[in-house]
Parts: sequence; C-alpha cells; structure tokens
Amino acid sequence: MHDANDTNTPPAPAPAPSLFTWEFASDPYPAYAWLREHAPVHRTALPSGVEAWLVTRYADARQALADQRLSKNPVHHSESAHGKGKVGIPGERSANLMTHLLNIDPPDHTRLRRLVSKAFTPRRVAEFAPRVQELTDRLIDGFADRGEADLIHEFAFPLPIYAICDMLGVPPEDQDDFRDWAGMMIRHGGGPRGGVARSVKKMRTYLAELIHRKRGALRDRGDEDLISGLIRASDHGEHLTENEAAAMAFILLFAGFETTVNLIGNGTHALLRHPEQRERLQRALAEGDETLLATGVEELLRYDGPVELATWRFATRDLTIGGQRIAEGDPVLVVLAAADRDPERFADPDTLDLSRRDNQHLGYGHGIHYCLGAPLARLEGQAALATLLRRLPDLRLNAEPEDLRWRGGLIMRGLRTLPVAFTPE
Ligand code: HEM
Repeated sequence: MHDANDTNTPPAPAPAPSLFTWEFASDPYPAYAWLREHAPVHRTALPSGVEAWLVTRYADARQALADQRLSKNPVHHSESAHGKGKVGIPGERSANLMTHLLNIDPPDHTRLRRLVSKAFTPRRVAEFAPRVQELTDRLIDGFADRGEADLIHEFAFPLPIYAICDMLGVPPEDQDDFRDWAGMMIRHGGGPRGGVARSVKKMRTYLAELIHRKRGALRDRGDEDLISGLIRASDHGEHLTENEAAAMAFILLFAGFETTVNLIGNGTHALLRHPEQRERLQRALAEGDETLLATGVEELLRYDGPVELATWRFATRDLTIGGQRIAEGDPVLVVLAAADRDPERFADPDTLDLSRRDNQHLGYGHGIHYCLGAPLARLEGQAALATLLRRLPDLRLNAEPEDLRWRGGLIMRGLRTLPVAFTPE
C-alpha cells in the first residue's frame, strides 16, 4: 500500500530550473544557486537553439577562463558549418569585424592586445577623468530640476556612449548617430537581427572612414585621441591595419557600452534597494572619503554585475571541467554572475557589503581576455554613482521593485527602465 506521506520515499530531485525566461531575467540568482549545487557544469539549449555547457562554480569558472584549450574562435564550434551566425555579435560576419580581441586566440590575440594596450593605457583613461565628470554633470543637469527621471534612458545609457566616442575622437556632431546605433543594438540585441545588422554596418562604415581621415591627419602625440593612438601604435615595427583598427574601435564601443550602462543601472538599483549601504556611502562621500566608493563599485559588480556570461569559448579537444567531460567542439559559457555568488569563495555571497575585502570577483573576466576597459568602466561607474548621490541626496525608486522590467540577454543583464524621484535641485 502506498501512503502519500510515506517518509521512507526519498524526495524526487527538483527539476533543473528554467533558464532564459522572464522570471529568470528578473532574478537569476536562485537558479544559479541550484545549478552550482546540483549541476555545476550543465548542458543546456540556449534560446538560439545552440547547445552549450554552463559553468557556474567560482573555482571552475576561474580555471575555464584561463584555460588555453578553450578557444575564442568560433571556427572551433562543432556546429560552425551549419550554425553560422548563431554565435558572436549580430551582423558581425557580414561586417567583416571578426578580427577583434574577443574572437581570437594567441598568437594573434597577443599581438593585437599588445598594440591596443599601447594606445588604451590606464594613464590615458586617468587623464580622461575630468571629461567623464563633465559629461556626468551635464546629463544630470538635463533632469535635476524635474524631480523625477528614468535613469536608464537619461543617464546610464548616454554616459558610456558619449564617453567612449569622446575618447575615440568621434566629433561631437556625430555622437548622436552612435547613440542611435547603439540604442538599436541594445533594444534589439536578441530580437530582429536586420536592424542590428544595419546599425553595425553603419558604425563600421563610419569608423572605417574616420580612421582613414585620421590617418591622413595625425596630430602631435600630446593631445591625440584613441583612434589616432591606435593608428600610431606599433610594436617591433608592426602596426594595426586599417581594418584591424576599425575592428578594434568597434569592439571598444561594443564591449564598453552596454556593460557600463548596466553597471550604472544595476549598481544604482542595488544601492536604492539597500538603504543602509547607500547611507554609508553617502556619509563617506560627504566626509571626502572615496575608499568606500572604490570598493563599493567592485562589490556592485560582484553582487549584480552587468555581464552574466563571459563570451563564447569552444573546446579545441576533449577535456573535463569540474569533473564533467566536454567534447571537442562544444561551446562553454562561463556564468560570471553565478561564480560571483559562490559561497565556497565569498562569505555571505547574497549580502551586499560595499566594504567587502578579498573581493576577487570575475565581473571583468580573468586571464588573457581580462577586460581591457576595466579602468574606464571603474572611472565611469564611480563618477556616475558618486555624482548621483551627491547631487540628488534623497534619490529614491519611483516604482514598485516587482514592476521593474529586466532585459536578460544571453550575455548581458540590466534594467529596461529605472524610474526615480528626488527633490529637484
Ligand atoms: C573583455 C566585462 C567595460 C572593453 C571583457 C570581459 C568581461 C568584461 C567579463 C571578458 C570576456 C571574456 O573573457 O569572454 C566588462 C564590464 C564592464 C566592461 C563588466 C563595465 C562595467 C568595458 C569598457 C571597455 C571594455 C568600458 C572599453 C571601452 C573590453 C575589451 C575586452 C573586454 C576590448 C576584450 C579583451 C580581450 O579579449 O583581450 N569585459 N567590461 N570593457 N572588455 Fe570589458
């Protein structure tokens, strides 16, 4: 006889959570906790139909990010013959922008990264700080007297695009075109590919022309922009070709745009949902202490970072990750957002602690593809949060938290809108 309450019957294992649904985009962390515990290296079908392995534990993730047997080049994908166009940046293949850092392995990667690092230096970024502050203030000026705003559209979205355009040397009168193309890429990243492909193509044509013009008019080293720096950069007599420089400018825009939008959006949201942490930060800033701002932005990246999954990797031979066999040609996606909440690595991983120590999160990746733009992202994130809190001290969410809509792409996660209210300036 079977008794429904029979305590001897072992509980059926819970089914794997649904990934990539609307609920998942709003709060993926319970699903990540399940995966870390029950299926740390988990094979799943992605919305595109491609099957991939998700790596969710911190130790496995860090190891996989640095594993040279995992290639970034989509030719190693077992489906590359018939899965064309399913991985990578939409429209990228036709746009001939394949030779960028996130799609290549050593020795090509080493050569290109060395060249771009000569132009995109931490010093150049530091010199750019006053300009980022000016942009931040100008954007806040646009809504400060209104008492309410949508911080995504009016602040988080335009700041990174104008910042990187300025750095690259895109003339101010052309920057709104970039804002529109980038907007198309964010809005329709996982949707109609035609519009995205057209935007990518327009950006590429524009950048190719700009590079050509700048090559003919290189200025003094002192005040040159990043594109001129890329053209000039040389290593043992080697230079970037015009096509490589265009691909590089494009990847700087592509990699540095939506990520930073979401750092500012997710970060501000997390602060507004944790009043005690936000007050701590406000007090520290009022006392002129910026230490908490620096550790705080790192913690916001760990706690609710913009990049859920690192970009594609493909096994170049049979190998194992976390005890799981992965076949040659299989795609591997490292879930940074899951690794960064791993209790094996972080104490109280679900707690936001702006002064967290030993915070070696994977939000910027790890290994040879570690984010090249991290110094710029930190600069923008710190300027954005500090200026918002200083200028609009009673900033508050102007919506029920459960009504906020999240954009969960395959790679990026961020808010569609962030309605806020505050006392007008
Ligand atoms: C690479 C995150 C901002 C440029 C990466 C990777 C991550 C990342 C996780 C490694 C991807 C992988 O291994 O598959 C972020 C986050 C940002 C941010 C969270 C903002 C908060 C920026 C900015 C720029 C930039 C502002 C430049 C303007 C790049 C480039 C790479 C990269 C060029 C490729 C490096 C390589 O392959 O060698 N980023 N990024 N990123 N990022 Fe960022």
